[in-house]
Amino acid sequence: MDRLPGFRDFYPEPLPHKDVWSSEVRSYIFNTWRKISLRYGFREYDGPPLEPLELYTLKSGDEIVGQLYNFVDKGERQISLRPEMTPTLARMVAAHHGNYRKPIKWFSIPQLFRYERQQKGRLREHFQLNADIMGDDSSGADSEIIALAIDVLRAFGLTHEDFVIRLSSRSAWSDYFARRCSDQERAYEFYQIIDKLEREDPEVSRQKLSQLNLSYDEVTQFIASGEPTAELQAILDNLSARGLADFVKIDYGVIRGLAYYTGPVFEAFDRKGKFRAIAGGGRYDHLTQLISAGKVQIPSLGFGMGDVVLTELLKERGLLPEFSAPAEIYSLIEDESLRLQTLTAIQAFRDAGYSTDYALAPLKADRQFKRALELKARWTFRLEKRETPESVYLLKDLFTRKEERFGSLEQTLQFLQTQPH
Ligand code: HAM
Repeated sequence: MDRLPGFRDFYPEPLPHKDVWSSEVRSYIFNTWRKISLRYGFREYDGPPLEPLELYTLKSGDEIVGQLYNFVDKGERQISLRPEMTPTLARMVAAHHGNYRKPIKWFSIPQLFRYERQQKGRLREHFQLNADIMGDDSSGADSEIIALAIDVLRAFGLTHEDFVIRLSSRSAWSDYFARRCSDQERAYEFYQIIDKLEREDPEVSRQKLSQLNLSYDEVTQFIASGEPTAELQAILDNLSARGLADFVKIDYGVIRGLAYYTGPVFEAFDRKGKFRAIAGGGRYDHLTQLISAGKVQIPSLGFGMGDVVLTELLKERGLLPEFSAPAEIYSLIEDESLRLQTLTAIQAFRDAGYSTDYALAPLKADRQFKRALELKARWTFRLEKRETPESVYLLKDLFTRKEERFGSLEQTLQFLQTQPH
C-alpha cells in the first residue's frame, strides 16, 4: 500500500530510494532549530494538531482556508488539522498570558498540514520552526526575530551569499491602498494581488489591479523604489549593528499571503531565486484580540521556517553532514556459553553512556567482526574463558588494532573512562 500523495516517509541513512526523506537530516534540522532558539532565550511550547475549524476561518485568509484538511468528527464538531501554528499560539497566549512575564518569547516545531497542489518545495505535510515574540510593540522585537531567523540559517552553514531576508511592511502597503482606494473592505484582495505579483502573468495582475482602480505601473514603481519607512530603517540599523546588514534588503514585492499581518513582514529566499520561500513572518498585532473576542490584545510577531525548502537548499549547497550511527563498542560473542556474562558487560557499558551493539542471536565470529567494522565501532569487546572462574576482559581499539586485557569489568570501565569518549 502506498502512502498518501504529499506525505513523506523518513528513513535512517543510507536512504534506500530517492523518493524517501532522511530521519537523520530531520533530527539535525530540529536540533539546530532548537539550539539557536534556546540561545536567543526562546522557550518551547506545543499545541494540539487538531483544532476547531473556526480558529482558521477567522483570520488566516482565503488561501490557507482553501487548503485545510478539515472534517466533522464523531462528536459532530467541525475540526481541522493545523495548517499553521500562529492561531494556536495566539489562542494559548490569550488564555494564559497573565502567568508569563512579557515579552513572551516562545518557539515550537509543529508538523503542519495543507491540502496544496504537490510541487517542488510544497507538500501536504511539513515541519516548521515557529518563533514568536508576544507583548512587545517595539521595532527592537522585529529586529530580534529577524536576527534569529538569520542566525538559524547561518547555523546550517549558509552565508549572505546563499540567502537574503526580503523585508517589507504590510502597513506601508495598507497606507498605499488607503490613499488610493476608499473601499477598505477590499484591502485583503489587494494584498493577495501583490503577494502573487511575481508568480502571476503581468496582464492578469494589471487587470485585477484596475478592478480596484489601481495602476499596475504605479504599484511596480513603488516596489522598485525600495525606500525604507522609518520603522524599517530602525530595523535595518539594528541589524547593521549586529553585523547582519548583508543578509537583509528592503523589498516591497513581499507582502505575505496570510491575512493577519499588520506591520513589518519578511521572507527568506535563496539568493539564486531557485527555491520557494525558506521562511516567512512578520507582525500581527490584532490576532489575539480577534481570537479572544476582544478580551486581550497582545502585540505579536514571529516567523515560520519550513523543513522542506531548507532541506532542498542544504542538499544543493552540499551543507548536510554525513550521517552514520557508529557504535562506540561492539561486543563479540564468540563462545555462546559466555553470552549471559557478556550481556552483563554490555549493560554496564550502556549504563556508563557508551553506545554498544552486539549480535542478538548466535552468529559466526567473522560475521560479528564484519558487523563491528560496518558500524564503524571504535572498540570491540570480548570475553575469554579461563580455567579459573574469572574470565579475561578484552578491549580492542579498532583504529590502532591494539588489544588491552583486564581482569574485571570494573577495570575495563576504568580504562574506557581514560579514553576520549
Ligand atoms: P507561511 O509563509 O505560510 O507562514 O509558511 C512559512 C514557511 O513554511 C514557508 O516559507 C515554507 O518554507 C514553509 N511551508 C509553507 N507551506 C508549505 C508546504 N505546503 N510545504 C512545505 N513547506 C511549506 C506561516 O505559516 C506563518 N504562520 C508563520 C508565522 C509565524 N508568522 C508569524 N509567526
